[in-house]
Amino acid sequence: MLGIRKVSIIGAGHVGESAAFIMAMKGIADEVVMTDIIENLPEGKALDMMQAGPILGYDTKIIGSSKGDVYKAIEGSDVVVMTAGFPRKPGMSRDDLLGKNIPIMKTVAENVKKYAPDCIFVIVANPLDAMIYAAKKVTGFPDNRLVGQAGALDSARFMAFLAMEKKVSVKDVWAMTLGSHGDDMVPLREYSSIYGVPVSKCVDKDALEKIVDRTRMGGGEIVKLLGTSAYWAPAAGVCWMVESILRDQKAVIPCHAFLHGEYGINDLPVGVPVKLGKDGVEEIIELDLSDEEKALLKKSADHVKEVCDRVEELGLLK
Ligand code: APR
Repeated sequence: MLGIRKVSIIGAGHVGESAAFIMAMKGIADEVVMTDIIENLPEGKALDMMQAGPILGYDTKIIGSSKGDVYKAIEGSDVVVMTAGFPRKPGMSRDDLLGKNIPIMKTVAENVKKYAPDCIFVIVANPLDAMIYAAKKVTGFPDNRLVGQAGALDSARFMAFLAMEKKVSVKDVWAMTLGSHGDDMVPLREYSSIYGVPVSKCVDKDALEKIVDRTRMGGGEIVKLLGTSAYWAPAAGVCWMVESILRDQKAVIPCHAFLHGEYGINDLPVGVPVKLGKDGVEEIIELDLSDEEKALLKKSADHVKEVCDRVEELGLLK
């Protein structure tokens, strides 16, 4: 029998279910498992998606698991995607969010280690830096099998805005951001291009700065419109990464990965261009950055260090 490509998604909320649907539509995985703590939710969503298959033309087996030994269903997954957690609510401090979501990661990671010990673990849930750190500590997975989704989304937003500005196909645009979401984001103007022409040469200077700002605030713009965080583009970012891993495409995608001296950063998960293949993070691509970009990336890494130290100070993994 041929090996099947199995992906499990922890958390069948907005991002989780959208990712499952895109994976089915694009035939990325043969089997997709969704788990959640809300009883019957993943089973219901899985069945609904299975019933869309005959019309949309996919054969992907989609399974939900919320009862009994919930995590047994993820057994043998090639990739596990972690989207479970609580969003930050008004009045909640960052420590409150850490206090809620790190214990969820602890339980999930223990089960990933137990049932899918050879998987590539893709982390989406926030606060991302702390979640990847916790995943590493709990699973003990080698760094190449831990990767976080942030840059794929931010870069896609940057590309979408550039295509809208120049009124060209998104296929003609390539753009990249490094670092983390928000203020720590490092949009790379020199490595972003439209039909191969650097954006600095083909996009009006003021328009480009507006696009960079809009990219930085991209998450907030959606929250204002929807009252909740984005999910289609984050899910698409996840699928971009998972497809490259499962098909061993070796696509270079901006992702959070542990660095070992690259960009002068050590043992911290930071958003950088990563070659993703069957072994997960197969190479960190080191770009020549400007002094300003280097300083921004360093600031981003400093924030990662702070939040990882805070996880330890609060004793959240004990
Ligand atoms: N195990 C499994 N699922 C859980 C657990 C847990 N311990 N705790 C919460 N969940 C589930 C919730 O029941 C919910 O269905 O995680 C799901 C989260 O879904 P949403 O609230 O819809 O959040 P979503 O928009 O999908 O975002 C998920 O991705 O992009 C990030 O910032 C975002 O951290 C957030 C995550």
